[in-house]
Amino acid sequence: MEKKLIVANWKENLTVNEAQEWLEKFSIFNDQFPNDLGVVICPSFVVLPMMAYEISKLERVKLGAQDVSKFEEGQYTGEVSAKMLRDFVSFAIVGHSERRKHFGETDKVIATKSLLALNYDLTPIVCISSIEEVRSWRREVGKEARSLRLESVVLVYEPVEAISTKGQFHPDDPEHANLMAKKIKAEIGQNIRVLYGGSVNSRNVVTFIGREDIDGVLVGQASLDPVEFSKIVSSNHEIP
Ligand code: PGA
Repeated sequence: MEKKLIVANWKENLTVNEAQEWLEKFSIFNDQFPNDLGVVICPSFVVLPMMAYEISKLERVKLGAQDVSKFEEGQYTGEVSAKMLRDFVSFAIVGHSERRKHFGETDKVIATKSLLALNYDLTPIVCISSIEEVRSWRREVGKEARSLRLESVVLVYEPVEAISTKGQFHPDDPEHANLMAKKIKAEIGQNIRVLYGGSVNSRNVVTFIGREDIDGVLVGQASLDPVEFSKIVSSNHEIP
């Protein structure tokens, strides 16, 4: 397993053509990426088939979905299941605060999605913004699953106010983010990977990823620029 993970969340951005251009620019820097690092790119569903083919040529870069259906399969118009996604991706973001806010996703729904992802061998990247949300997610997961491979889950601590809009970057205090990651591990288990997300860019990434309990970052806005994202991936991740 890679030591640190960097996840790009493109949200509702980049068409197939735009994603192709992004990849061409990003691939130039592939040789400069540190060996102990995993990179996960999460484009929209419609871009996944093209990306799956192109990304297979790159070392250490994997694909993720931005969401997964809460239903296994059936009459659920518009939904994309974990079973369908596993042909293309190995990760799936679950419970992003934008889905909680705009689509009313509850901790119960997020727990169901996490378990469906795990059942189909996808690693859920579960976003939470407080210890209460972590506890509630754990409780809901526990109701549905007796035994759990929790070390296969990635949790992302994302304080809602730090998630950037229109290029404004207001990240959390890195010390506080590290403390939250530590508390999450104390709550769930020391083997779980905890990332930080919210206003990460190439200038501040080291202040988060270099901390003891932070196992990587989730990047939204700054991941849309392939050069900026390459800088995030290839920057020195040790705090000087
Ligand atoms: P941001 O988004 O990097 O634009 O703040 C983070 C996220 O997707 O949660």
